[in-house]
Amino acid sequence: MGGESYKVWGAALVAMTVALAIGIFINEATHTKHHDIKAYIVDVPDTTQANTEVAAKPVSSTIETIVPLLAAADATAGEKAFKRCATCHTFQKGGANKVGPNLFNVVGGSKAAIPDFAYSNALTAMGGTWSYENLNAFLTKPKDFLAGTKMTFAGVKKAQDRANIIAFLRQYSDTPFPLPAQ
Ligand code: HEC
Repeated sequence: MGGESYKVWGAALVAMTVALAIGIFINEATHTKHHDIKAYIVDVPDTTQANTEVAAKPVSSTIETIVPLLAAADATAGEKAFKRCATCHTFQKGGANKVGPNLFNVVGGSKAAIPDFAYSNALTAMGGTWSYENLNAFLTKPKDFLAGTKMTFAGVKKAQDRANIIAFLRQYSDTPFPLPAQ
């Protein structure tokens, strides 16, 4: 009995906290009966998912933030942050392909440019070059930028980390790609 009511109140508290954080459903949470609260809790994952999708969708707003970040980006920090990429990628000129292709000259370079790497059809078909905007979007969440990509990597959450990584990779080119205009 005691354990059961603890659960109900615990669940109600979670519901209240989430409702407060989101800033909606507050009236419903205070006025509903227990079974309604349960129904509301079931709805919580949906709400969170919807929010994540909304946050991830406007790629252009993510892109707008990286241009100023690039100017002040720290290539040394980028080298450290690149460690998570280094399992699959080398970046030096003539470096070997691993699970992923060698990334020399990738910033500003053609997509899927390494001749002896078996790229996904999705990336080969995409074509064009790796602009700062494209790289930023790809590294944020590879699968969202390019459905069907072979790069099984969740993404780099922080914009500053992405900017640092891009600034680091940019150096590895015979003619480094110019930084974007501010
Ligand atoms: C689990 C292995 C793995 C990890 C970790 C990984 N990648 Fe990749 N990456 C790949 C694969 C595989 C491809 C080829 C994608 C395709 O063909 O769709 C790729 C493609 C790329 C490309 C496009 C290359 C080209 O020639 O067009 C870039 C840029 C890139 N990765 C950057 C990164 C960066 C930066 C990180 C770290 C933040 C990273 N990757 C982490 C496996 C990985």
